[in-house]
Amino acid sequence: MKVFVAGATGALGKQLVPMLVANGHDVVGMTRTDAKRDQLRSLGAQPVVADALDADAVGRIVGETEPDVIVHQLTAIPPKINMRRFEREFALTNRLRTEGTDHLLSAGRAAGVKRFVAQSNASLYARIGGPTKREDAPIDDDPPPEMRQGLAAIRHLEAAVTDARWTEGVVLRYGWFYCPGTSVALDPLGSQVEMIRKRQMPVVGGGTAVWSFIHIEDAAAATLAAVEGGPAGTYNVVDDDPALVSEWVPELAAAVGAKRPRGVPRWVGRLAAGEWAAVAMTELRGASNDKAKRELGWQPRYPSWRQGFVKGLG
Ligand SMILES: NC(=O)c1ccc[n+]([C@@H]2O[C@H](COP(=O)([O-])OP(=O)(O)OC[C@H]3O[C@@H](n4cnc5c(N)ncnc54)[C@H](OP(=O)(O)O)[C@@H]3O)[C@@H](O)[C@H]2O)c1
Repeated sequence: MKVFVAGATGALGKQLVPMLVANGHDVVGMTRTDAKRDQLRSLGAQPVVADALDADAVGRIVGETEPDVIVHQLTAIPPKINMRRFEREFALTNRLRTEGTDHLLSAGRAAGVKRFVAQSNASLYARIGGPTKREDAPIDDDPPPEMRQGLAAIRHLEAAVTDARWTEGVVLRYGWFYCPGTSVALDPLGSQVEMIRKRQMPVVGGGTAVWSFIHIEDAAAATLAAVEGGPAGTYNVVDDDPALVSEWVPELAAAVGAKRPRGVPRWVGRLAAGEWAAVAMTELRGASNDKAKRELGWQPRYPSWRQGFVKGLG
């Protein structure tokens, strides 16, 4: 198949493109910058240059390359997020998830694209009930103020993709990424590991939130499976081992040779880093990967972050 990857040079795209090429697909990789053409060629993709926020440019290159499948992995998340300015840090990502999605969908529709696979996030579930959520669980309808626009952008993306009747829309709700190129990595040093080493990442409020992680190679492998088959719809792409913050933060510290993190009360965490940070440490829910395993025939190579943090940080 001919697969058009928007976000081909990003953390996930870099893993995905060689996997697509190895499986015999023709890959078109999109970037904003001419300078990254060679990088895309070396991954095995045909480079195309366009700004995802420019509807005409996106329409033109999708029309010219005539892909069978579009993969939307566009984000613009800063390497180090200032938690006090969360909305500003995600403003461009939100535009990529709203306008960027709409432009790719319009272009894909005009070009007769058969399948459209897009990145979403598995930490969006309502903070009620049990610790691990399936895809049909409700989405948080009352997020902290600094997450409202971000969640609205994700809702827009998910609805636009799954409501498209002219194509097979697939939404992949990825867990928290780790591995080189992400914030949980040793080489190059990721921002979360740096914070843990500087003891700037305490366990807040008892660390009662549950996070679902995914090694980025496993996320790319699930994306490959979703490009190649499986029913349209929404899938959690997470590992088998939803993790309490009170467990994973100390284990990550141990894995990267840092001192054991301190514990601080919720109000201290909120004061220092804002309500979203406090929620992320005390209330988030994890996700179940049963559907992705069953319907996409996918298995994570790193079934648990416990091994992944020891062997998979680069
Ligand atoms: N589930 C998760 O935990 C999750 C999800 C997403 C990201 N992240 C984290 O966020 C950080 C950055 O992630 P990332 O590598 O995906 O982001 P990134 O380095 O910003 O890459 C995003 C991709 O989107 C493309 N892009 C951005 N704006 C564009 C535009 N206007 N037009 C065309 N293309 C555009 C970039 O292309 P060019 O730069 O080549 O133009 C790049 O290919 C990492 O630490 C990652 O782990 C985490």
